[in-house]
Amino acid sequence: MEQRKLKIGGIIDGVGWNYTGWRHPAIPADASENIDYYVEKAIQLEQGKFDLIFLADVSHIGPGMIPHYLSMFEGVSVLSALSMVTHSIGLTATIATSYADPFTAARQIASLDKISKGRAGWNAITSNPGGLANYSRSHLSKADLYPMKKEFLEIVEGLWDSYEDDAFIRNKKSGVFYDPSKMHSLNYNGNYFSVEGPLNISRSRQGRPVIFQAGTSLEFMDVAAQHAEVIMAPGNDFNFLKGFATELRRKVAHNGRSPNDLLMMPSHSPIVGETEKEALEKLKEIESRMPYGYRLPRPLLMGSAEHVAEKIENWYQEGVMDILLIRQDYPAGFEDFIKWVVPILQDKGIFRKEYEMNTLRGNLGLPYPVNRYTKQ
Ligand SMILES: Cc1cc2nc3c(=O)[nH]c(=O)nc-3n(C[C@H](O)[C@H](O)[C@H](O)COP(=O)(O)O)c2cc1C
Repeated sequence: MEQRKLKIGGIIDGVGWNYTGWRHPAIPADASENIDYYVEKAIQLEQGKFDLIFLADVSHIGPGMIPHYLSMFEGVSVLSALSMVTHSIGLTATIATSYADPFTAARQIASLDKISKGRAGWNAITSNPGGLANYSRSHLSKADLYPMKKEFLEIVEGLWDSYEDDAFIRNKKSGVFYDPSKMHSLNYNGNYFSVEGPLNISRSRQGRPVIFQAGTSLEFMDVAAQHAEVIMAPGNDFNFLKGFATELRRKVAHNGRSPNDLLMMPSHSPIVGETEKEALEKLKEIESRMPYGYRLPRPLLMGSAEHVAEKIENWYQEGVMDILLIRQDYPAGFEDFIKWVVPILQDKGIFRKEYEMNTLRGNLGLPYPVNRYTKQ
């Protein structure tokens, strides 16, 4: 089998993921709630042939948070808007299983999937415990969060199969709108949720949205091995990631799934220059706006474009980076990466020059999930 090419995603996070990024002259100070900014970045990432846009989220804020989180767009809402100005790039929103309601979440992401014609992804996370205070769930302990997440995922996946692919006939002449035998209730009764179904939206061109998950614990791995297709992981420790990926793929196989259908997606904040020196100057420039004497940890992907591309190729070949997820710490982070690093990855033959498909699942090389009732 031909090796799957490297995939690339971009996190758009407004004014950035640190405390002082908003002060940079090239960043609109209201970028986190500025739709024009998001549109510009989305188009830029699609021109760079990226596989997906990824949005992280918070469920609880307070005075100590980074500026981006203080006033920002809700994920599905802004991705619905971005779907109208893009054509092939995937759109992945984060919704926490500890706080949201599974019927509503299934409906929102499925709608995004239809609106975008098959480009939606869902990052299903337990989230940080702070959100318990905002969602009337203060009675729950951390020990509840993974059993709850498992139920949540079973429900959402079940609801996404409510209609078989040929359920809707819509024949004006005969007056037959749909085939009731191809509509299915779920009748799920769990410890945390009970949902009858069916969901009132049918499947998209990619069958159903791609499921992403982020975490590292053993409890996380057990749920991910059953339900995750993409794993977002911290990107700073190669040895950890190698062991983590090996163990997770073993668990995936143990669950009767192909380990090839699980993609590892470490996140990075590359700083690239035409030369090593130029990259270092960019890092210093970011640090110059931070409190006196503050030093940023040196990004793993920092230096000349050739150097950064070599590192990426190595991680990709080692099986720990099926998808490279980047966020920009430096305002021109995406632009630099697309201008200098992407062409090198293309020349190496490991990254696409054109989109293969226009669904997220298709571009990621993930299989089309046959509806469970059709399969039966
Ligand atoms: C790479 C990564 C990204 C994450 N992104 C988010 C996020 O966007 N929003 C959030 O509330 N929590 C996020 N989390 C936190 C997880 O939802 C979870 O609370 C955390 O991983 C602790 O769970 P664990 O110890 O079981 O892994 C992230 C975690 C990881 C490892």
